[in-house]
Amino acid sequence: PPIEPYRDRLPILPTMSGTRIDVRASSTMHSFHADLAPSPALAYSGADYLGATIEAHVDQPTTIAFRNDITVHPFAVDFDPSLHGLSERDRTEVPTATHLHGGVNPPQFDGHPELVFRPGEEYLHQLPNRQDAAGLWYHDHAMGVTRLNIYAGLVGLYLLRDDFDTGRADNPLGLPAGEFEVPLVLQEKMFTAGGRQRVRSTPTVPQGSWEGGAVGDVGVVNGKVWPELDVARGLYRLRLVNAGSLSVWNLYFGNRMRFWVIGGDSGLLDAPVAVTRVRLSPAERVDLLVDFGALEPGSTVELCNDEPPPFQAALIGERTMPRFCRFRVGTARGFTGVPPSTLRGGPGQPELLPPIPRPQVFRDVTLSQPSDVRLPPSIMSLNNLRYSTEDIELPRQGTVEQWNIINATNDPHPVHLHLANFRVLGRQVIETLRFALATPQPPLGIRWTPSADAFTISPLAPAEPWERGFKDTVLANANSITRIIVRFPTAESLGFDPDAVFGHGSHDAHGHGAGGGPRSLQGYVWHCHILDHEDHDMMLRYRTVA
Ligand code: C2O
Ligand code: CU
Repeated sequence: PPIEPYRDRLPILPTMSGTRIDVRASSTMHSFHADLAPSPALAYSGADYLGATIEAHVDQPTTIAFRNDITVHPFAVDFDPSLHGLSERDRTEVPTATHLHGGVNPPQFDGHPELVFRPGEEYLHQLPNRQDAAGLWYHDHAMGVTRLNIYAGLVGLYLLRDDFDTGRADNPLGLPAGEFEVPLVLQEKMFTAGGRQRVRSTPTVPQGSWEGGAVGDVGVVNGKVWPELDVARGLYRLRLVNAGSLSVWNLYFGNRMRFWVIGGDSGLLDAPVAVTRVRLSPAERVDLLVDFGALEPGSTVELCNDEPPPFQAALIGERTMPRFCRFRVGTARGFTGVPPSTLRGGPGQPELLPPIPRPQVFRDVTLSQPSDVRLPPSIMSLNNLRYSTEDIELPRQGTVEQWNIINATNDPHPVHLHLANFRVLGRQVIETLRFALATPQPPLGIRWTPSADAFTISPLAPAEPWERGFKDTVLANANSITRIIVRFPTAESLGFDPDAVFGHGSHDAHGHGAGGGPRSLQGYVWHCHILDHEDHDMMLRYRTVA
């Protein structure tokens, strides 16, 4: 029988704070829905799915004491041992790496995919929190199994506060806080007939092989299928993260009401922007104000999605997943304030966002699918290279670069840079056929960065309203060029060396290189945040050099 929506209350995720926070990854049983029996999952820190929300404060360092306590993996059978030198051992001694997504952190504490920890191992991540207040999130990043670990439940929020965005009712920005600030971790899932979460959607790929993308047909919010939240009549701050595996969502309210975007990945915008929809790709966050005060007591409003499935998924029959959750409006009066007219630049507000700087260096990078005559693909790539390549980007610390992200595939890919935040300049559509004919793709392993400027046809479409602040992830639309401006920080501004060598000599850290053996690590990664893609092989290392 189909799963019935709105049987469950929306879970409010617990919070943790302090200078030292224990984060343990463990094997659990979790019930995703009132009619589904508990099924195997992974979670952080005592939860039975996802993890508690960590609250941290700008310039007050946090130590995350991570421990891998995983005993059994819900998807051990789905491990593909051909990826990145994984082995049979990985099914039972599950590797983990914990990354604070959007965090500006020293490379040895960044959750580098090759710095993995096995069951019983611990690692202290020292996070300076020297960056703007923002809604960050932490999640697993272990090489070759990220898609399985995240889907199983290794996701938590990390709300970085400051003296403006305090998270308390008396915040100077006048934003809803406490029970009126609600984080929503959005995911897509599939379940077996028996109610277990299932990670595979492509029947044509043999069990245990990488399959290219797991599309969900059920919306899960804060760990429950299609939940409902009782809301008071008033303004709410909803903090959304797309923690899904593959899909981009075009989100709107069922009554088409207007709402306000107040922030994105890396912090607040200059002022709230009224919108009727937001498009959110995997790993992106959006900070919203929504007014339930004008709705009739007793009425309900759904959070809906009408983004069609990506090209490849549509080919195997995937359909749009139409809803996530529902809000039921009560009679009580809630937060009575109105959206502030500005968020930055006024008295008691942080500084305005700086203008987008002029680039000193232009860099073309490519998203490609080296075997696109086959379906599903056998690998995805950046610059037509594999993860193990030494042909990596080496931006200089302190330079402002424009990255032209050339998406030569028929699917959208969310591109994420570790360490460096950026601004979105805009996007242009490529004339696909001319592009393909003029710039044939070489075999995998040979760098392919066709000149972007020869083939753009549409004028530059500016960043969407919700993309106007600093970001760490940008949606690169199919057959398009997405232009971003990145300032690579200096060691001096960071207070740490972003190019430090790390990983070995440490008794509890086991980097496994492309050949399976340990090696020294340096720098960060950038990658597609479609989880199956980053696992194989749409992720490259990069270093910033002094
Ligand atoms: Cu959300 Cu490289 O990660
Ligand atoms: Cu991708």
